[in-house]
Amino acid sequence: MGTKSKIRQDGTFTIGTLLPFGAMVTGMEFSSDVTISELSELRRLLNEHHVLVFRGHRAPKDSEYVRFLRHFGELSTNEAVDPGYLRPGFPEIIVISNIVENGKKIGAAQDVKGLDWHTDYSWQDRVSVAGALESVETPHSGGETCFVNMYAVYEALEPALRTKVDGLRALHEIKGTELRDASAEHPLVATNPISGRRALYINPHFTTKLIGIDEGEGERLLLRLIDISMSSQFLYKHSWQLSDLVLWDQIGLIHARMPYRENERRYMRQITVLAEDASAPWRSH
Ligand SMILES: [Fe+2]
Repeated sequence: MGTKSKIRQDGTFTIGTLLPFGAMVTGMEFSSDVTISELSELRRLLNEHHVLVFRGHRAPKDSEYVRFLRHFGELSTNEAVDPGYLRPGFPEIIVISNIVENGKKIGAAQDVKGLDWHTDYSWQDRVSVAGALESVETPHSGGETCFVNMYAVYEALEPALRTKVDGLRALHEIKGTELRDASAEHPLVATNPISGRRALYINPHFTTKLIGIDEGEGERLLLRLIDISMSSQFLYKHSWQLSDLVLWDQIGLIHARMPYRENERRYMRQITVLAEDASAPWRSH
């Protein structure tokens, strides 16, 4: 993961560009609230780069982490998650971990085998617009988080295929995990509420069926779209360092976690920002 350019921003933090997409923000100060100018710069950067990697800062307290993320929208309080997997006093923060203490799992998504491509909360009506993960303990190898740019995937589709997906909807479902069963139906193409940029809104983990199309044809089309999305040109792989905080656009990106070894410890704090309302990502601009 290299940076190709660095720009000094008003003496507060430094920005570098990641490849093929993403930006690194170094030296952010979370102990005091962000200024209006810093916030507008960070929103602009998120919009342009889709992934912001904050590195080289003092780890924010739970309260500072929540305060920072609230600037990007309303936060999920994770009612569907086992309360034992939330940070005490901060239902906005889910612990993602394989660690077992006193015979009890302390976090969600414990499986070291990896986590399939998905978008958090795509199975509910009010989807997520942004996600954040912060690394408290990280394995020596593996456990990377990968992101695919679904704006670029949508824009790379042949025009006839793009026209086809424009008219379709998809079912997103969650079953058989620590969360309750739930489902939601969404159009196949979402629009970033700020940039107006359109993204293919499907993910292999939760999207189970296309709607508005013959079933067999829908299955083939879904597989084809997923296959196109998996091309390496759309992929950014994040190798975690201690205290990295990664903020990403959930409308235009899907993410996955790579496997790591059973005897390694991984502990992440996750916050999810919700869309303004159920229709926000699908409004025309
Ligand atoms: Fe996730």
